[in-house]
Order: sequence, then C-alpha cells, then structure tokens
Amino acid sequence: MKLTIVGGGGFRVPLVYGALLEKAERLGLAEVVLHDVDVARLERIAPVLEGLAAEHGARLPFRTTSVLEDAIEGADYVFCAIRVGQLEGRVVDESVPLGLGVLGQETTGPGGICFALRTIPVMVALAQTIAERAPAAWLINFTNPAGMVTEAVQQVLGERAVGICDSPSGLCRRVAGALGREPGELWFDYFGLNHLGWLKGVRDRREELLPALLDDDARLAGLEEGRLFGADWLRALQMIPNEYLYYFYYAADTVNAIRESPASRGAFLLEQQRAFYAEDGQDPAAALATWRATRHDRERSYMAEARSAAGDGSEHDIDANAGYESEAMAVLEAMALNTRAVLILNVANRSSLPVLDGRAVVEVPAVVGRAGPVPLAVGDVPADAGALVALMKEVERTTIDAALTGSSALAIKALALHPLVPSVTTARAIFAGYRARLPQLEEAFS
Ligand code: G6P
Ligand code: MN
Repeated sequence: MKLTIVGGGGFRVPLVYGALLEKAERLGLAEVVLHDVDVARLERIAPVLEGLAAEHGARLPFRTTSVLEDAIEGADYVFCAIRVGQLEGRVVDESVPLGLGVLGQETTGPGGICFALRTIPVMVALAQTIAERAPAAWLINFTNPAGMVTEAVQQVLGERAVGICDSPSGLCRRVAGALGREPGELWFDYFGLNHLGWLKGVRDRREELLPALLDDDARLAGLEEGRLFGADWLRALQMIPNEYLYYFYYAADTVNAIRESPASRGAFLLEQQRAFYAEDGQDPAAALATWRATRHDRERSYMAEARSAAGDGSEHDIDANAGYESEAMAVLEAMALNTRAVLILNVANRSSLPVLDGRAVVEVPAVVGRAGPVPLAVGDVPADAGALVALMKEVERTTIDAALTGSSALAIKALALHPLVPSVTTARAIFAGYRARLPQLEEAFS
C-alpha cells in the first residue's frame, strides 16, 4: 500500500506519521511519500519523523519529494492538508474583516470564504492529477475550509474524496466524558456542515441522555462547550453546537475579544511557526523535542479568543481533542480493513439531511468500509439549524463557483449572503481589502 501526504512539510504531519507507525503493519503499509512545494519545510519535518521512528523502535519508510506526479503515481490513499497562501494568507483572511468590525477567523465568516477562493482552484488541480495518476486512490482531505474544498473536489473525484475534521469527534469525546461514559458505548446524533454542526442526541442502550445533561449545570460546567455557550443557551437550543458555532452565536463578543487580544490567531501562529521552521540542522531527538514544545503551545491556546470572549479562563483540554491524526487513521483503517466503523465525515449527502440535495457535502455519521463512506439518515433537524445549514450551503456553493470562474460578482455575492456580514457595502469593502492585500487573488479576479 502506498500512502501519499500532500502538504508533507506541514506542522501536523508528525502526528499523522506517528499514528501510521503504530498501524503500518496491520494496514500493510509499505511506503509513505511526503510531498510539499516547499523543500525547506520537508527538510525541517523529516528529522522530526526520524525522531518519532527512533522512539518507536521501527522505521516506517518514508521519502520526500517536490514533484507532485511522482508523489501521486499509483497511490492508494492521498492525505491532503495544505495551506494555500500559508499563514501570511491566514493573517489577511482574519484581519481584513476585523478592520471592518466583522468576525475574522480562519474558516468561519469572510475569512473562510477568502481562504476557499484561493484554495479551491489548487485543490481541483490536485484532484485532476489524482484522477490521472492514481484513479483508484481515495483522497482523504483535511485541507480547509474542508467542507467547501471537499464539495469542489468531488466535481472531479466523486465520492472518492472524503473530508475530515477532528472537531465533531472531539465534541463527542468531551460529551461522553461529561456523562462519565466511554464514547464507544454511545450513539451520537451529529449533523451539519463542516465547522457548522450540532449534536442533537446521545443515546445508550436504554435512553436519550442529552436532556438530562442539558439540565445538569455541574456537568455542563465541566464541559468546554458548556462554558463556551453557557448552559442557558444550550438549553434554548436543546442541542450542543460544534465549538465553531460560537463564532455565529457570539459573533460580536468574539470580535471585541480579538480586538483586545495582543495578536490574532493567525498572527500568533505566524510568529510561532516561523521560529520553528527557521531552526534547522537539528538531530532527530532535538527536532522532535522542539516540535513537541511548539505543538503544546499551539494546542493549549487553541480557540483562546472564543474562550476569552466567553469569560472562560481555562486552557484548551489538549488530550480530549488530540483527534487530528486519529480521525485520519480511523478512516484509513475502516477503508483498508473494511471495518464498517461509523465516523462523522464530510461526504455527499445522498439523502442523509433532507434540507439539502443529494450532492451537497455534509458532515454526518457514515458507515465506512472498503467501498468508502455511506452516510446515515439524520432525518429531521430543528428548523433554526436546518435554515442555517441551507443558507450556508448557498454561501459555500456561491464561493465554489466564484473560485472556479474568477467572478468578482459571485465572490461579493457569497460574502454578502453570509449571515455574519451585515451589508452588501461591507461585503464589497471586504473583497476590495482582500484584493489589495493578496496579489494572487487580485490576479485571479481581475
Ligand atoms: C481544528 C479544526 C481545524 C482547524 C484547526 C485550527 O483542528 O478542526 O479545521 O484548522 O483547529 O487550529 P489552529 O491551531 O491552526 O488555530
Ligand atoms: Mn476542522
């Protein structure tokens, strides 16, 4: 089995490689190929992987390349996590709307639209290379905004493209923890779009457990989402939203909190990651130690702006959300070993969520085996959530069309339709701000 990681010089690649080390034998994995357009980043990450292999005691063979065709040729699985425009782009995505009093965030709000506009053409080109060089491969996509990107690449690869995110499984794990139960014992009714989902039910053999949890202030206080959204708001919804919905339900609070913080998330990460990638020539053990320290700092401050807006002084629970690599492994294992596990993935809707058509990519539980993921029927959902999902799918599709046609009118329409953008005038100003600061975008839309 050949597995290719596109974005192989990325900071979270050691998480994936570390997980692969554990599973390689069982999966019959012979070769891992790391592809990146930036050779220096590959050179920085490779010793970290060597460090992991040394700790593990056996080395899963890997090689690095900057030639995409070589990386993709004959692959069985392609993992892809790239950041088009790098962290410099993320800083622009976040800061332009903030300058106009609108939420600035990596994937939610105008930031996610701008991120998608530059990412989708690159991802569709990658999908075409996969279709030519590795027509039997599965594309496991982590590239954000994962929902939009997955829907766009499905135009080329159909259902062989699957989108993943660690956020839904993190929520389920934390809710199980709040209930004092193991996640594997429970059934989680989760639905929505990527970074726009809700947990509408949790069941065990006997009963529905969510109502009692929502009535229990003490348990809710022990749950990150309980502190973030507040018990009263969770009771009003009668569901537990994905953490990213904080940016919808408490948009103004987040804008204020970000404005008061010393740096936006993107700016903080830009500094932090620059320092990490600048330090080269380390031996494997030292490279691994630096990487671990950097990662700890990154995860600890994850979503800090939302927690600070909510007045939650605690740190992010690193262990309860160490799911980035677990998600990728779970999909790989379910497909390679045909386990038919149920995983929450970004897949074509078919008829899972009745508020959307069959081709819409949604984030729902799916049975995953050798033939890929098959979404489960979610059925009816509360009308407020269904309406937001339907509207955001229109925003996503307008964004995809804008990205693939280079139409400014469509880009502005996508921004203006977004519920967090208060006016068409603001949408125009945001788009003009993006064009002024991103030469690549200016070129694509001129
Ligand atoms: C979670 C989300 C990802 C997102 C990341 C941001 O893992 O599921 O989609 O990219 O958080 O974390 P960061 O450390 O980059 O702010
Ligand atoms: Mn995600």
